[in-house]
Amino acid sequence: MSETSVPRDLLEAALSVLNNAYAPYSRFRVASAVRDSNGRIFVGINVENSSYGLTVCAERVAVFSMVTRGGRLVREVLVLAGDSREPVPPCGACLQVIAEFAEPETIIYMVSGVTGKHRVARLRDLLPSAFRLDARRSKE
Ligand code: THU
Repeated sequence: MSETSVPRDLLEAALSVLNNAYAPYSRFRVASAVRDSNGRIFVGINVENSSYGLTVCAERVAVFSMVTRGGRLVREVLVLAGDSREPVPPCGACLQVIAEFAEPETIIYMVSGVTGKHRVARLRDLLPSAFRLDARRSKE
């Protein structure tokens, strides 16, 4: 799917918060933008901690922001790796969090903030076996 172009509004939303990434330990700034089923865009950045394991990735911050506002279905995800020459996929934990609120066909755009290089994949290709507690997916 690498020929698919990156939605400009998602990219601009991610760019608008990239400088707020709190990454003093890794110096690897990440911003994410998700579009929900109502067309609303939510953004997030990575927030690190001196107790390293408490770090939260940009994608989870963006998805949790959507859920906080009542959104329950992610239509598209963009990950902007601000300091990487290559686009990066969401980590396994973030893919699992995205899968909680997205269909397997959901498109994930990955963009390098350094080179502009991008990659496009579907959630099911990045996480073929998402964990599900059961087949009934109640969001209440
Ligand atoms: N990070 C993200 O925010 N999203 C990703 O997709 C990959 C990794 C963050 C976590 C940490 O703050 C830094 O990047 C280096 O791992």
